[in-house]
Amino acid sequence: MNTPHQLHPVFPDDFLWGGALAANQCEGAWDEDGKGPSVADVTRHKPDVDPRDYRAGHAITLADIQAALEWTDSKGPYAKRRGNDFYHRYQEDLDLMAQMGFKTLRVSIQWSRLFPTGEETEPNAAGVRFYHELFRAMRERNIQPLVTLHHYEQPLATVFNHRGWYDRAMVDLFMRFAEVCFREYGEAVKLWLTFNEVDSIFRHPFTTAGLLAEHFEGMNMEEVCYQALHHQLLASARATRLLHELVPDARMGCMLTKLLHYPLTAHPEDQLTAQRTNRDNEMAADVHVHGEYPRWVERDWVRKGLHVEVADADRVELAAGTVDFLSFSYYMSLVSAHDEGERERVSGNLSSGVKNPYLEVNEWNWQIDPEGLRYSLVSLYDKYRLPLFIVENGVGIRETPDADRSIRDEARIDYFRRHIRAMGLAIDDGVELMGYTPWGCIDLVSMSTCEMSKRYGFVYVDADDEGNGTYHRTPKQSFDWYRHVIATNGREL
Ligand code: BG6
Repeated sequence: MNTPHQLHPVFPDDFLWGGALAANQCEGAWDEDGKGPSVADVTRHKPDVDPRDYRAGHAITLADIQAALEWTDSKGPYAKRRGNDFYHRYQEDLDLMAQMGFKTLRVSIQWSRLFPTGEETEPNAAGVRFYHELFRAMRERNIQPLVTLHHYEQPLATVFNHRGWYDRAMVDLFMRFAEVCFREYGEAVKLWLTFNEVDSIFRHPFTTAGLLAEHFEGMNMEEVCYQALHHQLLASARATRLLHELVPDARMGCMLTKLLHYPLTAHPEDQLTAQRTNRDNEMAADVHVHGEYPRWVERDWVRKGLHVEVADADRVELAAGTVDFLSFSYYMSLVSAHDEGERERVSGNLSSGVKNPYLEVNEWNWQIDPEGLRYSLVSLYDKYRLPLFIVENGVGIRETPDADRSIRDEARIDYFRRHIRAMGLAIDDGVELMGYTPWGCIDLVSMSTCEMSKRYGFVYVDADDEGNGTYHRTPKQSFDWYRHVIATNGREL
């Protein structure tokens, strides 16, 4: 009989336990060794914005970018420029991850470190060298890299030279970057992802695709987003095919933000509203997995009068570049209703929905729902029949060390315990799950709010939102807990 914190052996022996980081939020060194400025480097923390719904705070204008470029102080609100200083401290961080027993680490490669403006024909040698050293250091510790090519980062110059991914020329620029990555790192990296949360273009077009509203005045922004998304999907399919050609033993995955929407009630209209929202959420995954747009999308374009340029040859490429596995982030669930009335709303990942009375929220108003993870795993696997990989999951918490410098993060342990249990139950339900990389395994800068205070890590980083602090690393209570989970292959939680 299992105790409440034990699971029967359900995780496969080769299950990839690990953690996840994104270069734009952890590396720092934003202008070192030839790196160019990226879209992430001009986004800033806005302490006056209500953290429980940060969507307005995340929006960016031309004036914001100009102000950012004039900001030269290394301290201040542009926290992604500093990250958690992983660029200089990755050896120490990898030691900590090896101590936890990580089998894998998800990282991303900054396009702007290899191609500072995106237009160069040859990559920046110092940038190429950095990732070689990083992957070598991972290999020395038996940590397998899982690498995202595009994680909310691209050269800032592409925003102005091309109006971001709206311009089809971006596909070629991206392919130049992808090809360098596959040729340089293909021997060390066998698991790749093309675009992080590719579906998020509709929620935050600037960070996802370099789309600045002022560049599209008088145009329909939904049409602009669809066109840019089409270019990303095309680039993703092309990169997948190229990877298969150049590195035949490597696998490519797509990456979806899993935003599960429950219907508010059994009212058929609520059911339909939730179904439509979930369908929207999974649209990009459909293209990656099935190699074609779902019929409803193109009908929607016609119905709404949207003109999205999709050449016949593009359709052939989409069909030829389908992915090998499906990865996703999962933090919370939301609720949809056909008539919300005055109901309270909650947010999450720059999205929002009606509040679910059965769930608690964290300080950023993200609902905590482990059963929703099980639900998502089962429904994604039933729909796509591809191996799944949870490449982000976790809970943001404000933390200050105790007098003895320890951080007792029971709430995080509880969150992970319940989510890992849900994963085990989903595996019992028949789901094929490759691995699990909790988000921000070492505290890093928040994507949406650009603050350090929203901490996700098993390791505390001594830095505040403005860049004060020693950046010293301290394992939290969850560090030992997660080490034990990995050591028992998920049997003891
Ligand atoms: C995911 C992103 O959406 O959520 C990460 O891929 C991000 O980049 C994570 O950091 C958590 O969101 P936030 O806004 O709390 O950092």
